[in-house]
Amino acid sequence: MLPSKTSVTDRSWRAGTAPGALPLLGHVPALWRRPLEFLASLPAHGDLVEVRLGPARAYLAAHPELVRHVLLNPRLFDKGGVFDKARQLLGNSLSVSRGEEHRFQRRLIQPAFHPTRIAAYTTAVAADTRTVTDAWRAGETRDIGDAMHSLLMRVAARTLFSTGLDEATVEEARQCLRTVSHGIYKRTVAPLGIMEKLPTPANRAYDHANARLRQIVADMIAVRRRSDEDHGDLLSTLLRAEHPETGQKLDDGQLLDQVVTFLVAGSETTASTLAFVFHLMGRLPEVEKRVHAEVDAALGGRTPVHEDLPALPYIRNVITETLRLYPPSWMAMRVAAEDVELGGRKVPAGTMILYSPYALHHNPDLFPDPEIFDADRWAGERAAQVPRGALLPFGAGSHKCIGDVLALTETALIVATVAARWRLRPEPGSALRPEPKATLEPGPLPMVLERR
Ligand code: HEM
Repeated sequence: MLPSKTSVTDRSWRAGTAPGALPLLGHVPALWRRPLEFLASLPAHGDLVEVRLGPARAYLAAHPELVRHVLLNPRLFDKGGVFDKARQLLGNSLSVSRGEEHRFQRRLIQPAFHPTRIAAYTTAVAADTRTVTDAWRAGETRDIGDAMHSLLMRVAARTLFSTGLDEATVEEARQCLRTVSHGIYKRTVAPLGIMEKLPTPANRAYDHANARLRQIVADMIAVRRRSDEDHGDLLSTLLRAEHPETGQKLDDGQLLDQVVTFLVAGSETTASTLAFVFHLMGRLPEVEKRVHAEVDAALGGRTPVHEDLPALPYIRNVITETLRLYPPSWMAMRVAAEDVELGGRKVPAGTMILYSPYALHHNPDLFPDPEIFDADRWAGERAAQVPRGALLPFGAGSHKCIGDVLALTETALIVATVAARWRLRPEPGSALRPEPKATLEPGPLPMVLERR
């Protein structure tokens, strides 16, 4: 049943306070030093949990219905000041725009991400994966995070621009993107914004990488403007996109901001998911065996295409379970735009409301044995028992990830292509230590490549 606003305001909620606040600093040290453990501990203290960030009071919406309420009411729970900062860095693109401007952009761009278009964009994903993995050598060790980032960047470039970017430029764009993504994170969380103006080597590297990345994308747009040909890729679709009511199109500056945003929002997230999948498969022989059996039966040695995806349900469940355990977007926030009532509390305008897919996904009340990898949670009847809103790797509401289907499609095609030929073993002594940064990163994960 869909939540009505009344169900959220009428029912009684458990209000709680996070324990262990330090004088002056509150919970900042806990959130800084061990954010995942801290966030995962909070649902035990209430449905809406007060957290102290220095002198400021913030709340974590810990119950899935409260999270939905926050995300489905963007007028009351706005994206807030952090996003004003992000806007200076990303331009006025989809992820940082608000209100009417956001609705306008979303209606213009959404058709480019329609599932029927995604089948066309992803035709080359498996072939690109084959090209990259054919250069792997049995017995060598690779960092799986880095290998997947490199592969994903190639796939992302192809999805956006189909042809036109040579390998060296894709690699250059990838290095720039890493620097830009980390720089945006630092700049968004930095309280004052003074440090980033100093001519330090890190700031110079950020400025250079940002300028170069934007130049590479601007050059692609300029080339495409010169001909009217439809290349069947994301950029062609965006160039033709028209607002359904006003007929307005994106100008070059808007296109540039959007494409850079897609690269920032879509590449590390998808690459990290793949790295986690391969690491988990390497650690869990039963899971790996079932993935191998599924690809062998469905593909019989062929390179997969979009139409093969329905025959790969276990891979889909492995990816979903990986996103549950390691959601790349591990925490996000909104700000109360006016005085509101939430979870039985009066929340003053300007209060920060946190929500954490990681905390939801690791809550034993929502997922029994939450630390256990169990892909069959997503099969048949069991999937139907998962409480609504408990799984939230792509967010919800008007700002829900526009690239969700694209990401899931690319991920499944890459997993199937690699698993058909390779077995990846974690290097002895290596351990998974996820690093919560702008996204949840896998950290160093050396894996030994074996041919199947
Ligand atoms: C596994 C991969 C991905 C994950 C886990 C992910 C996760 C998310 C989440 C949680 C949000 C909402 C953030 C919020 O509520 O503030 C979001 C928004 C967004 N994502 Fe993704 N994403 C992924 C891949 C992609 C891809 C491939 C693209 C584009 C090619 C993309 C583009 C965007 C954009 C543009 C937004 C902003 C949407 C809006 O505000 O209207 N993402 N993503």
